[in-house]
Amino acid sequence: MTFYQDKNVLLAVTGGVAAYKAAELTRLLIKAKANVKVVMTDAAQEFIPAKTLAVLSTHPVLTDASWQGAGSEVDHVRLAKWADLIVLAPLTANTLAKLALGLADNALTATIMASTARKIAVPAMNDAMWSNPAVQRNVDQLKKDDFDFIGPTSGFLAEGYEAKGRMVEPAEIVTAITDLAWDGFQDAIFEEKPLVGKKIVVTAGGTREPIDPVRYLTNKSSGKMGYALAEAARAAGATVTLVAATSRPVNPAIRVNLVGDTREMLAAVQKEMAVADVYIGAAAVSDFRVAEVSEHKVKKRGDEHMILDLVQNPDILKTVGEAKKPGQVVVGFAAETENLIENAQAKLVKKHADLIVANNVLEAGAGFNKDTNKVTLVTADQDPIRVAAKLKTEVAEDIIALVADLLTS
Ligand code: C5P
Repeated sequence: MTFYQDKNVLLAVTGGVAAYKAAELTRLLIKAKANVKVVMTDAAQEFIPAKTLAVLSTHPVLTDASWQGAGSEVDHVRLAKWADLIVLAPLTANTLAKLALGLADNALTATIMASTARKIAVPAMNDAMWSNPAVQRNVDQLKKDDFDFIGPTSGFLAEGYEAKGRMVEPAEIVTAITDLAWDGFQDAIFEEKPLVGKKIVVTAGGTREPIDPVRYLTNKSSGKMGYALAEAARAAGATVTLVAATSRPVNPAIRVNLVGDTREMLAAVQKEMAVADVYIGAAAVSDFRVAEVSEHKVKKRGDEHMILDLVQNPDILKTVGEAKKPGQVVVGFAAETENLIENAQAKLVKKHADLIVANNVLEAGAGFNKDTNKVTLVTADQDPIRVAAKLKTEVAEDIIALVADLLTS
Protein backbone atom coordinates (compact mmCIF):
# COMPACT_ATOMS: atom_id res chain seq x y z
CA MET A 1 0.00 0.00 0.00
CA THR A 2 1.36 3.42 -0.85
CA PHE A 3 0.98 6.69 1.00
CA TYR A 4 -1.46 8.03 -1.58
CA GLN A 5 -3.45 4.83 -2.09
CA ASP A 6 -7.19 5.59 -1.95
CA LYS A 7 -6.50 9.11 -0.69
CA ASN A 8 -8.73 11.86 -2.10
CA VAL A 9 -6.46 14.68 -3.13
CA LEU A 10 -8.02 17.94 -4.26
CA LEU A 11 -5.69 20.01 -6.39
CA ALA A 12 -6.55 23.72 -6.19
CA VAL A 13 -4.98 25.63 -9.07
CA THR A 14 -4.74 29.42 -9.10
CA GLY A 15 -3.63 31.81 -11.81
CA GLY A 16 0.13 31.89 -12.03
CA VAL A 17 2.29 30.80 -14.92
CA ALA A 18 3.35 27.72 -12.93
CA ALA A 19 -0.27 26.52 -13.36
CA TYR A 20 0.92 24.64 -16.45
CA LYS A 21 2.78 22.32 -14.07
CA ALA A 22 -0.56 21.27 -12.55
CA ALA A 23 -0.84 18.75 -15.40
CA GLU A 24 2.35 16.98 -14.36
CA LEU A 25 1.38 17.16 -10.69
CA THR A 26 -2.01 15.58 -11.44
CA ARG A 27 -0.31 12.82 -13.43
CA LEU A 28 2.21 12.06 -10.66
CA LEU A 29 -0.47 12.00 -7.94
CA ILE A 30 -2.55 9.59 -10.04
CA LYS A 31 0.57 7.48 -10.64
CA ALA A 32 1.09 7.40 -6.86
CA LYS A 33 -2.47 5.97 -6.70
CA ALA A 34 -4.31 9.01 -5.30
CA ASN A 35 -7.85 9.90 -6.39
CA VAL A 36 -7.45 13.38 -7.81
CA LYS A 37 -10.04 16.08 -8.41
CA VAL A 38 -9.31 19.64 -9.46
CA VAL A 39 -10.79 23.03 -8.66
CA MET A 40 -9.40 26.07 -10.46
CA THR A 41 -9.88 29.81 -10.71
CA ASP A 42 -10.71 31.65 -13.91
CA ALA A 43 -7.21 33.12 -13.93
CA ALA A 44 -5.69 29.63 -13.74
CA GLN A 45 -7.59 28.67 -16.89
CA GLU A 46 -5.70 31.34 -18.79
CA PHE A 47 -2.56 29.26 -18.22
CA ILE A 48 -3.96 25.73 -18.54
CA PRO A 49 -7.37 24.62 -19.84
CA ALA A 50 -9.71 22.92 -17.37
CA LYS A 51 -10.17 20.20 -19.99
CA THR A 52 -6.53 19.10 -19.70
CA LEU A 53 -6.89 18.58 -15.96
CA ALA A 54 -10.29 16.93 -16.36
CA VAL A 55 -8.81 14.38 -18.76
CA LEU A 56 -5.75 13.71 -16.59
CA SER A 57 -7.71 13.47 -13.33
CA THR A 58 -10.60 11.58 -15.01
CA HIS A 59 -13.06 13.86 -13.15
CA PRO A 60 -14.88 17.05 -14.12
CA VAL A 61 -13.04 20.15 -12.91
CA LEU A 62 -14.88 22.59 -10.65
CA THR A 63 -14.63 26.10 -12.10
CA ASP A 64 -16.62 29.28 -11.52
CA ALA A 65 -18.51 28.53 -14.75
CA SER A 66 -19.53 25.04 -13.62
CA TRP A 67 -20.09 26.04 -9.97
CA GLN A 68 -23.71 25.65 -9.05
CA GLY A 69 -25.95 24.18 -6.46
CA ALA A 70 -26.85 20.58 -7.22
CA GLY A 71 -29.12 18.33 -5.23
CA SER A 72 -29.06 18.80 -1.51
CA GLU A 73 -25.42 19.82 -1.36
CA VAL A 74 -23.75 22.53 -3.35
CA ASP A 75 -20.67 21.67 -5.40
CA HIS A 76 -18.07 23.28 -3.20
CA VAL A 77 -19.39 21.63 -0.03
CA ARG A 78 -19.49 18.21 -1.69
CA LEU A 79 -15.94 18.60 -2.99
CA ALA A 80 -14.75 19.94 0.37
CA LYS A 81 -16.14 16.87 2.16
CA TRP A 82 -14.66 14.51 -0.44
CA ALA A 83 -11.07 15.76 0.02
CA ASP A 84 -8.67 14.14 2.50
CA LEU A 85 -5.95 16.53 1.47
CA ILE A 86 -5.98 19.81 -0.45
CA VAL A 87 -2.89 20.84 -2.38
CA LEU A 88 -2.89 24.47 -3.51
CA ALA A 89 -0.44 24.55 -6.41
CA PRO A 90 0.42 27.03 -7.64
CA LEU A 91 -0.87 29.40 -4.97
CA THR A 92 -0.77 33.05 -6.04
CA ALA A 93 -0.33 36.04 -3.73
CA ASN A 94 -3.92 37.00 -4.50
CA THR A 95 -5.57 33.73 -3.44
CA LEU A 96 -3.18 33.48 -0.51
CA ALA A 97 -4.49 36.84 0.70
CA LYS A 98 -8.11 35.80 0.21
CA LEU A 99 -7.59 32.63 2.23
CA ALA A 100 -5.81 34.54 5.00
CA LEU A 101 -8.90 36.75 5.23
CA GLY A 102 -11.38 33.91 4.91
CA LEU A 103 -12.96 35.13 1.68
CA ALA A 104 -15.07 32.72 -0.35
CA ASP A 105 -15.70 34.69 -3.52
CA ASN A 106 -15.15 31.95 -6.09
CA ALA A 107 -15.50 28.16 -6.40
CA LEU A 108 -11.91 27.55 -5.27
CA THR A 109 -11.88 29.74 -2.16
CA ALA A 110 -15.40 28.61 -1.22
CA THR A 111 -14.29 24.95 -1.40
CA ILE A 112 -11.24 25.59 0.75
CA MET A 113 -13.26 27.55 3.28
CA ALA A 114 -15.76 24.69 3.51
CA SER A 115 -13.14 22.00 4.06
CA THR A 116 -11.61 20.61 7.24
CA ALA A 117 -9.05 18.60 5.23
CA ARG A 118 -5.31 18.99 5.63
CA LYS A 119 -4.17 21.89 3.45
CA ILE A 120 -0.80 22.21 1.79
CA ALA A 121 0.13 25.48 0.09
CA VAL A 122 2.67 25.53 -2.73
CA PRO A 123 3.18 29.22 -3.53
CA ALA A 124 4.63 30.53 -6.79
CA MET A 125 5.15 34.20 -7.53
CA ASN A 126 7.59 36.90 -8.40
CA ASP A 127 10.40 37.23 -5.83
CA ALA A 128 9.49 40.81 -4.87
CA MET A 129 5.88 39.77 -4.37
CA TRP A 130 6.94 36.85 -2.19
CA SER A 131 9.03 39.11 0.06
CA ASN A 132 6.33 41.79 0.22
CA PRO A 133 5.40 42.27 3.89
CA ALA A 134 1.68 41.87 3.12
CA VAL A 135 2.30 38.48 1.53
CA GLN A 136 4.52 37.40 4.42
CA ARG A 137 1.83 38.51 6.89
CA ASN A 138 -0.69 36.37 5.04
CA VAL A 139 1.69 33.40 4.98
CA ASP A 140 2.13 33.71 8.76
CA GLN A 141 -1.64 33.83 9.17
CA LEU A 142 -2.19 30.72 7.04
CA LYS A 143 0.53 28.88 8.98
CA LYS A 144 -1.33 29.77 12.18
CA ASP A 145 -4.47 28.41 10.51
CA ASP A 146 -2.65 25.07 10.03
CA PHE A 147 -1.76 25.34 6.36
CA ASP A 148 1.56 23.65 5.59
CA PHE A 149 3.87 25.28 3.08
CA ILE A 150 6.08 23.67 0.46
CA GLY A 151 8.45 26.24 -1.06
CA PRO A 152 8.74 28.52 -2.89
CA THR A 153 12.30 27.74 -3.92
CA SER A 154 14.99 29.79 -5.54
CA GLY A 155 15.44 29.27 -9.21
CA PHE A 156 14.86 30.62 -12.68
CA LEU A 157 11.67 32.72 -12.62
CA ALA A 158 9.43 33.53 -15.60
CA GLU A 159 10.87 37.04 -15.35
CA GLY A 160 14.16 35.65 -16.68
CA TYR A 161 16.36 35.76 -13.60
CA GLU A 162 17.15 33.58 -10.61
CA ALA A 163 15.39 34.41 -7.34
CA LYS A 164 13.11 32.99 -4.66
CA GLY A 165 9.52 32.54 -5.77
CA ARG A 166 9.64 29.50 -8.03
CA MET A 167 7.13 26.71 -7.45
CA VAL A 168 8.62 23.47 -6.15
CA GLU A 169 8.78 20.89 -8.97
CA PRO A 170 5.80 18.46 -9.13
CA ALA A 171 7.83 15.33 -8.28
CA GLU A 172 9.26 17.08 -5.24
CA ILE A 173 5.79 18.22 -4.17
CA VAL A 174 4.59 14.61 -4.27
CA THR A 175 7.50 13.57 -2.02
CA ALA A 176 7.31 16.61 0.25
CA ILE A 177 3.63 15.94 0.98
CA THR A 178 4.52 12.52 2.34
CA ASP A 179 7.29 14.15 4.40
CA LEU A 180 4.83 16.66 5.81
CA ALA A 181 1.78 14.56 6.32
CA TRP A 182 3.08 12.50 9.19
CA ASP A 183 0.29 12.95 11.68
CA GLY A 184 -2.53 10.61 10.91
CA PHE A 185 -1.94 9.87 7.27
CA GLN A 186 1.25 7.83 7.49
CA ASP A 187 -0.24 5.65 10.16
CA ALA A 188 -2.59 4.29 7.54
CA ILE A 189 0.22 2.93 5.35
CA PHE A 190 0.82 -0.27 7.27
CA GLU A 191 -2.51 -1.39 8.58
CA GLU A 192 -1.04 -4.16 10.67
CA LYS A 193 2.12 -2.34 11.80
CA PRO A 194 4.52 -5.29 11.49
CA LEU A 195 7.40 -3.55 13.28
CA VAL A 196 5.72 -2.61 16.57
CA GLY A 197 8.25 -3.12 19.39
CA LYS A 198 11.23 -3.18 17.00
CA LYS A 199 14.11 -0.72 17.08
CA ILE A 200 15.53 0.32 13.72
CA VAL A 201 18.66 2.30 12.93
CA VAL A 202 18.84 3.94 9.51
CA THR A 203 21.75 5.91 8.08
CA ALA A 204 21.16 8.61 5.49
CA GLY A 205 22.94 11.22 3.44
CA GLY A 206 26.51 11.70 2.33
CA THR A 207 29.27 11.73 4.94
CA ARG A 208 31.59 14.73 5.01
CA GLU A 209 35.30 14.14 5.45
CA PRO A 210 37.07 17.29 6.62
CA ILE A 211 40.07 18.69 4.77
CA ASP A 212 40.57 21.77 6.94
CA PRO A 213 38.28 23.85 9.20
CA VAL A 214 36.20 25.10 6.24
CA ARG A 215 36.39 22.37 3.59
CA TYR A 216 35.33 18.77 3.24
CA LEU A 217 34.98 15.91 0.77
CA THR A 218 31.47 14.62 0.18
CA ASN A 219 29.18 13.15 -2.49
CA LYS A 220 25.87 13.78 -4.23
CA SER A 221 23.65 11.91 -1.76
CA SER A 222 20.48 13.84 -0.81
CA GLY A 223 19.50 11.51 2.03
CA LYS A 224 16.02 11.07 0.48
CA MET A 225 16.15 7.25 0.44
CA GLY A 226 17.32 6.98 4.06
CA TYR A 227 14.75 9.48 5.29
CA ALA A 228 11.99 7.69 3.37
CA LEU A 229 13.07 4.41 4.99
CA ALA A 230 12.99 5.97 8.44
CA GLU A 231 9.46 7.30 7.78
CA ALA A 232 8.27 3.94 6.43
CA ALA A 233 9.76 2.07 9.40
CA ARG A 234 8.01 4.44 11.78
CA ALA A 235 4.74 4.04 9.89
CA ALA A 236 5.19 0.27 10.33
CA GLY A 237 5.31 0.80 14.10
CA ALA A 238 9.08 0.74 14.75
CA THR A 239 11.05 3.02 17.04
CA VAL A 240 13.45 4.69 14.63
CA THR A 241 16.81 6.37 15.02
CA LEU A 242 18.18 8.11 11.99
CA VAL A 243 21.93 8.61 11.94
CA ALA A 244 22.12 11.24 9.26
CA ALA A 245 24.89 13.13 7.55
CA THR A 246 22.33 15.29 5.71
CA SER A 247 19.49 17.20 7.35
CA ARG A 248 15.95 17.09 5.93
CA PRO A 249 12.47 17.67 7.37
CA VAL A 250 11.32 14.57 9.18
CA ASN A 251 8.56 13.24 11.40
CA PRO A 252 9.26 14.45 14.93
CA ALA A 253 8.67 10.91 16.20
CA ILE A 254 11.95 9.90 14.56
CA ARG A 255 15.07 10.52 16.64
CA VAL A 256 17.74 12.12 14.47
CA ASN A 257 21.42 11.99 15.30
CA LEU A 258 23.25 14.33 12.92
CA VAL A 259 26.83 13.29 12.24
CA GLY A 260 29.64 14.56 10.03
CA ASP A 261 32.26 12.06 8.94
CA THR A 262 32.32 8.28 8.55
CA ARG A 263 34.01 7.47 11.83
CA GLU A 264 31.48 9.59 13.69
CA MET A 265 28.66 7.78 11.85
CA LEU A 266 30.17 4.39 12.70
CA ALA A 267 30.46 5.25 16.40
CA ALA A 268 26.84 6.46 16.52
CA VAL A 269 25.61 3.34 14.69
CA GLN A 270 27.56 0.95 16.93
CA LYS A 271 26.08 2.57 20.02
CA GLU A 272 22.55 2.20 18.63
CA MET A 273 23.07 -1.37 17.43
CA ALA A 274 23.74 -2.52 21.00
CA VAL A 275 19.95 -2.46 21.46
CA ALA A 276 18.51 -2.34 17.92
CA ASP A 277 16.90 -5.11 15.86
CA VAL A 278 17.59 -3.76 12.38
CA TYR A 279 20.33 -1.77 10.67
CA ILE A 280 19.66 -0.14 7.31
CA GLY A 281 22.73 1.49 5.79
CA ALA A 282 21.32 3.84 3.19
CA ALA A 283 24.01 6.48 3.65
CA ALA A 284 26.53 7.15 0.92
CA VAL A 285 29.59 6.62 3.05
CA SER A 286 32.90 8.02 1.94
CA ASP A 287 35.36 5.21 1.34
CA PHE A 288 38.27 7.54 2.02
CA ARG A 289 39.17 10.37 4.36
CA VAL A 290 41.95 12.90 4.38
CA ALA A 291 44.97 11.42 6.15
CA GLU A 292 45.81 14.57 8.05
CA VAL A 293 43.15 17.22 8.57
CA SER A 294 44.78 20.65 8.54
CA GLU A 295 44.22 22.65 11.70
CA HIS A 296 44.19 25.87 9.66
CA LYS A 297 42.66 26.76 6.32
CA VAL A 298 44.90 25.40 3.58
CA LYS A 299 46.37 28.31 1.62
CA LYS A 300 47.15 28.58 -2.09
CA ARG A 301 50.78 27.98 -2.77
CA GLY A 302 52.88 29.03 -5.73
CA ASP A 303 52.52 25.75 -7.63
CA GLU A 304 49.33 24.62 -9.41
CA HIS A 305 49.08 21.20 -7.79
CA MET A 306 47.48 20.36 -4.50
CA ILE A 307 47.77 16.75 -3.43
CA LEU A 308 45.41 15.32 -0.82
CA ASP A 309 46.64 12.18 0.88
CA LEU A 310 43.64 9.88 1.49
CA VAL A 311 43.36 6.82 3.72
CA GLN A 312 40.63 4.21 3.73
CA ASN A 313 37.61 4.67 6.03
CA PRO A 314 36.04 1.86 8.04
CA ASP A 315 33.19 0.07 6.23
CA ILE A 316 30.20 0.70 8.52
CA LEU A 317 27.96 -1.93 6.92
CA LYS A 318 30.67 -4.61 7.08
CA THR A 319 31.52 -3.73 10.69
CA VAL A 320 27.84 -3.95 11.71
CA GLY A 321 27.36 -7.15 9.65
CA GLU A 322 30.34 -8.86 11.27
CA ALA A 323 29.12 -7.91 14.76
CA LYS A 324 25.55 -9.04 14.01
CA LYS A 325 23.80 -10.76 16.90
CA PRO A 326 21.27 -13.58 16.36
CA GLY A 327 17.93 -12.16 15.30
CA GLN A 328 19.36 -8.86 14.05
CA VAL A 329 18.73 -7.94 10.42
CA VAL A 330 21.30 -5.94 8.45
CA VAL A 331 20.44 -4.17 5.21
CA GLY A 332 22.87 -2.48 2.84
CA PHE A 333 22.70 -0.68 -0.48
CA ALA A 334 24.70 -1.27 -3.61
CA ALA A 335 24.97 1.45 -6.20
CA GLU A 336 26.32 -0.27 -9.29
CA THR A 337 26.98 0.60 -12.90
CA GLU A 338 27.22 -3.00 -14.21
CA ASN A 339 26.60 -6.65 -13.18
CA LEU A 340 23.99 -5.50 -10.69
CA ILE A 341 22.81 -8.83 -9.26
CA GLU A 342 26.26 -10.49 -9.17
CA ASN A 343 27.81 -7.53 -7.40
CA ALA A 344 24.92 -7.31 -4.93
CA GLN A 345 25.17 -11.03 -4.15
CA ALA A 346 28.91 -10.68 -3.56
CA LYS A 347 28.26 -7.71 -1.27
CA LEU A 348 25.66 -9.70 0.67
CA VAL A 349 28.31 -12.28 1.56
CA LYS A 350 31.26 -9.91 2.03
CA LYS A 351 29.35 -7.58 4.36
CA HIS A 352 27.37 -10.27 6.24
CA ALA A 353 24.14 -8.53 5.24
CA ASP A 354 20.66 -10.09 5.06
CA LEU A 355 19.42 -7.86 2.28
CA ILE A 356 21.13 -5.72 -0.33
CA VAL A 357 19.10 -3.08 -2.12
CA ALA A 358 20.81 -2.81 -5.48
CA ASN A 359 20.34 -0.11 -8.04
CA ASN A 360 21.98 0.70 -11.32
CA VAL A 361 22.82 4.37 -10.91
CA LEU A 362 23.20 4.81 -14.66
CA GLU A 363 19.54 3.90 -15.22
CA ALA A 364 16.89 6.62 -15.65
CA GLY A 365 14.69 7.06 -12.57
CA ALA A 366 17.31 5.70 -10.15
CA GLY A 367 20.11 6.95 -8.00
CA PHE A 368 21.40 10.07 -6.30
CA ASN A 369 19.35 13.15 -5.57
CA LYS A 370 16.22 11.93 -7.36
CA ASP A 371 12.73 11.39 -6.01
CA THR A 372 12.38 8.02 -7.69
CA ASN A 373 14.42 4.86 -7.50
CA LYS A 374 14.49 1.54 -9.34
CA VAL A 375 15.90 -1.24 -7.21
CA THR A 376 16.39 -4.98 -7.01
CA LEU A 377 16.14 -6.60 -3.58
CA VAL A 378 18.78 -9.30 -3.16
CA THR A 379 18.63 -11.76 -0.25
CA ALA A 380 20.38 -15.08 0.37
CA ASP A 381 17.29 -17.29 0.21
CA GLN A 382 14.96 -15.75 -2.36
CA ASP A 383 15.25 -14.95 -6.04
CA PRO A 384 16.13 -11.29 -6.58
CA ILE A 385 12.97 -9.12 -6.42
CA ARG A 386 12.90 -6.47 -9.13
CA VAL A 387 10.89 -3.44 -8.02
CA ALA A 388 9.55 -1.21 -10.81
CA ALA A 389 10.75 2.43 -10.82
CA LYS A 390 8.69 4.41 -8.32
CA LEU A 391 8.90 7.10 -5.68
CA LYS A 392 11.56 6.56 -3.03
CA THR A 393 8.81 6.76 -0.40
CA GLU A 394 7.12 3.77 -2.06
CA VAL A 395 10.37 1.84 -2.55
CA ALA A 396 10.98 2.40 1.18
CA GLU A 397 7.65 0.76 2.02
CA ASP A 398 8.57 -2.32 -0.05
CA ILE A 399 11.96 -2.57 1.67
CA ILE A 400 10.40 -2.21 5.13
CA ALA A 401 7.80 -4.89 4.30
CA LEU A 402 10.64 -7.25 3.33
CA VAL A 403 12.61 -6.36 6.49
CA ALA A 404 9.52 -7.28 8.54
CA ASP A 405 9.47 -10.68 6.75
CA LEU A 406 13.19 -11.21 7.38
CA LEU A 407 12.75 -10.44 11.09
CA THR A 408 10.19 -13.21 11.44
CA SER A 409 11.90 -15.79 9.21
O1 C5P B 1 30.91 -1.36 -0.93
P1 C5P B 1 29.88 -0.34 -1.29
O2 C5P B 1 30.32 1.06 -0.92
O3 C5P B 1 29.37 -0.43 -2.68
O4 C5P B 1 28.64 -0.73 -0.39
C1 C5P B 1 27.55 0.10 -0.24
C2 C5P B 1 26.91 -0.17 1.10
O5 C5P B 1 27.92 -0.18 2.09
C3 C5P B 1 25.93 0.91 1.51
O6 C5P B 1 24.92 0.33 2.31
C4 C5P B 1 26.80 1.85 2.35
O7 C5P B 1 26.03 2.56 3.31
C5 C5P B 1 27.76 0.90 2.99
N1 C5P B 1 29.10 1.43 3.25
C6 C5P B 1 29.49 1.61 4.56
N2 C5P B 1 30.75 2.08 4.84
C7 C5P B 1 31.61 2.38 3.85
C8 C5P B 1 31.22 2.21 2.51
C9 C5P B 1 29.95 1.74 2.23
O8 C5P B 1 28.70 1.33 5.46
N3 C5P B 1 32.81 2.85 4.16
